[in-house]
Order: sequence, then structure tokens, then C-alpha cells
Amino acid sequence: MKLSCVARVLACLFGGRASLQQVTDFGYNPTNVKMYIYVPDTIKPNPEILVAVHYCGGMAQAFFQNTPFALLADQKGYIVIYPESPYGGTCWDVSSQATLTHGGGGNSDSIANMVTYALDTYQGNPSKVFLFGVSSGAMMANVMAATHPELFNAIIAHSGVPAGCFVSAYNEVNGWNGTCATGNVHNTPEVWATVAKNMYPGYYGARPRMMIVHGGADTTLHYNNYNETIKQWAGVFNISTTPTETKPDTPEQGYTTYNWGTQLKGVYNPSYGHDIPIVASDDMEFFGL
Ligand SMILES: *[C@@H]1O[C@H](CO)[C@@H](O)[C@H](O)[C@H]1NC(C)=O
Ligand SMILES: *[C@@H]1O[C@H](CO)[C@@H](O)[C@H](O)[C@H]1NC(C)=O
Ligand SMILES: *[C@@H]1O[C@H](CO)[C@@H](O)[C@H](O)[C@H]1NC(C)=O
Repeated sequence: MKLSCVARVLACLFGGRASLQQVTDFGYNPTNVKMYIYVPDTIKPNPEILVAVHYCGGMAQAFFQNTPFALLADQKGYIVIYPESPYGGTCWDVSSQATLTHGGGGNSDSIANMVTYALDTYQGNPSKVFLFGVSSGAMMANVMAATHPELFNAIIAHSGVPAGCFVSAYNEVNGWNGTCATGNVHNTPEVWATVAKNMYPGYYGARPRMMIVHGGADTTLHYNNYNETIKQWAGVFNISTTPTETKPDTPEQGYTTYNWGTQLKGVYNPSYGHDIPIVASDDMEFFGL
């Protein structure tokens, strides 16, 4: 019996709920990313898998406690994976060629291997795998969409930058790109699409639906990155950057929701900085959870 199962039995006997468990043997992991998983006491057959990716300075345990996804998993019966950055400062590597390449052996491959492990171990539904990331985790969300599009049905990037925007000209691992962070990287949709597609050359299969959330007063990862990210995925989907639908005061007062068909959704609130709150009901609706 695995330790996680023992923990679950004990939790039931003593009236607690399931807890966050580390998994050390999830597969190829040359950059030593840590994997934590939350398997609720009751999971549905062929559960959905949600990957929740933390911000710089965050850890799996903090993201587990401070975001609503585990409590919602208790109600809905899906499984949550919390990857944890291996670096001091716990940002994600979204700058090296290894992480920006499908099969390159970087952090992105490790997160992909966590998904494969969870699908195998819990008979998860491979067509219902989702990813949510905040800040550095949102940068990784866009990177995962570009490097591992075959794994995900839908991805939410909450206060991030486009895939490849943080690239290091010196192939630095876990590098900081000030030009991108300050909102000074501007590309056409076509150029951004090429950047994303080059992370998995020769891939022509399905791609995840994308939801891009940003605060219009964000100067940590400048709000220009909202538009640039929208342009990137509009370019990848080969659709116009003009939304098909604009919904004021949605999902809450002060936010505007933009839809580009069903593939791309933007949520923007000019009043918030980098700390724009998670509107969990909107995220659940986008995932279909
Ligand atoms: C920062 O990223 C841009 C692309 O977004 C790239 O052109 C530039 O070389 C990067 N800067 C550094 C210092 O690596
Ligand atoms: C972003 O795009 C929206 C809609 O296209 C536009 O109204 C807004 O001015 C743009 N913001 C920036 C900072 O470019
Ligand atoms: C994008 O769509 C246009 C038609 O809207 C089409 O002519 C063009 O070939 C498409 N480009 C790609 C790369 O699929």
C-alpha cells in the first residue's frame, strides 16, 4: 500500500481530509522539479487532472493552501498536481532552450511527465487535463501550452507573459528577462505564433483553449504582456485579434471578459496590479469542471 493511501485511510479514521503528498518517482526529471499531488478522499472515475503552478517565492504547499483548487477538488472529485520549482527563489525556468523545447529535458518536460504519471496512476481522463499558473507559473502555463499542447484541454495564465518572451539570449536557466517583464517586447501575432510553434516543431494536433487573465495596473509583469499573450494565441489559432464578444463587468464588476470564439478568452481588470485575485468560479467554468 502506498503512503498516500495510508494517509488517506488515517485521514478518514480521524475525520480529516486527504493531504498533499510528494511523489518522487514520477518519471524523467533531469532538472529535479518536485511533484506534489492532492488526491481527494473521493475521486470520480477517470478523474480530470488539474496542474496548479505557483508564483516566484511560492511553494507547492503554499499554493495548495492559498488557492481554492484543492477545496474544489473535494467537491468535484478531480486531482490536483502541484509542481514545485527546484531553484532558490522558486521561479520557473522559462528562459533556457531546454525548457522552451518539447523533449528538451527542462522544467516543462518534468511537469509533462507528472501529468503522464497521474493519468496512469489514477486512470485519469487524458482529454480532461488542465493547467493553471500564476505569475512565474503563468509564464510556465504559456510555455506548457507551446511545448506540450498534446497534453492539455485548457490552460489559464494568470498574470504572466507570452511563451518565449522570457527567453535568455545566453541560454541561462531560470533567467530574468527585464525587457519582457517591463512590457517592452512587442511582436506581431505571426511572429509570436512562430515562437510558440517552434517549441514543438512538426506538431499539428489539437491545442489547449487558452484563458489569459491580467490586471491593467500590473508593473511586475507589465500589463502590455496581456495583449502580447492574446496576440500569441490568436496567431497560433490563426484567428483575428478582434474579439468576437466583449462582456463588461464579467465575471465581476470592473472586469471585462473578451472571447475569441471558444479557443481564446481574455479577462482584464484595469484596477488590479500583479495581485489580481483568482475568480475560481470563472476558472472552473472555463475548464468545464
Ligand atoms: C529577452 O527576451 C527577448 C524576447 O522576448 C529577447 O529578444 C532578448 O534577447 C531577451 N533578453 C535577454 C537579456 O536575454
Ligand atoms: C490592448 O488591447 C486592447 C484591445 O485590443 C486595447 O484596447 C488596449 O489599448 C491594449 N492595451 C495596450 C496596453 O496595448
Ligand atoms: C490562416 O487563415 C487564413 C484564412 O483565414 C489562411 O489563408 C491561411 O493559410 C492560414 N494560415 C495558416 C498558417 O494556417
